[in-house]
Amino acid sequence: RTVYVNGEYLPETEAKVSIFDRAFLMADGVYEVTSVLDGKLIDFEGHFVRLQRSLSELDIAEPCTRDELLEIHRELVRVNEIHDGLVYLQVTRGSDGDRDFVFPNPETTKPTLVLFTQSKPGIMDSAASKNGIKVISIEDLRWHRRDIKTVQLLYPSMGKMMAKKAGCDDAWLVEDGFVTEGTSNNAYIVKGNKIITRALSNDILHGITRAAVLRFAQEAQMEVEERNFTIAEAQDADEAFVTSATTFVMPVVEIDGAKIGDGVPGAKAKRLREIYLEESI
Ligand code: PDD
Repeated sequence: RTVYVNGEYLPETEAKVSIFDRAFLMADGVYEVTSVLDGKLIDFEGHFVRLQRSLSELDIAEPCTRDELLEIHRELVRVNEIHDGLVYLQVTRGSDGDRDFVFPNPETTKPTLVLFTQSKPGIMDSAASKNGIKVISIEDLRWHRRDIKTVQLLYPSMGKMMAKKAGCDDAWLVEDGFVTEGTSNNAYIVKGNKIITRALSNDILHGITRAAVLRFAQEAQMEVEERNFTIAEAQDADEAFVTSATTFVMPVVEIDGAKIGDGVPGAKAKRLREIYLEESI
């Protein structure tokens, strides 16, 4: 696989980043995951705009222009022959060759830019998308700037592991009694014609897929209600689903052991997945 590091395309075994890089020592970096379907990048623009915002919130310089970044994405998709999969991008504050809590001088320390691809054949009609996934609920113990897409992913990873141990696929995070989001996706419930999902704030990541799916839902004459909901309300809902760049619209069929609706993917989740894939490619 060819990867990109700070201006160079290299075989992955030759790519190098300093052990002092602040992402390695302090999780001081941000990332984006852009899906590739049929060789095409899905919503590059949305991911780029969110990347700019994450960087500016953390005072990390933009490593290159939008056009350069798009070109790197396209080149990696081309050389690695990605039909269906993703491009992972990470920008970190870099390092001045030492460990210090104080940020290094931005005049002399350049951010680190890394991109690589992952091939995911068959992602469009995975078994999970046909059968739906089972989730558990856990307390949301993350920091309070979840709107910034940082590489600080230890708690979400632990959540996934807790779900796996419980024989499930993922975890929904709960704070003050209300669902914030999934470990790596936004969470929704469906009641009648209403698609219900938490409103945007610093409590959740502003999903690029979320924005697209809510727009498609409205265009398909579904009602969208942005508000908090509890696990009990979700267990009692007609349907549930999650969205992310890598899973698109993924039906949820069980929450903490309780079947949602008939325990099979719901009609609205299926319809939104279809629309999303049709419109995105
Ligand atoms: N995760 N919420 C969280 C906490 C996420 O990590 C993600 C994305 C989302 C969905 O955002 P989007 O629709 O822009 O992908 C919501 C990516 C896919 C990941 O970490 O791999």
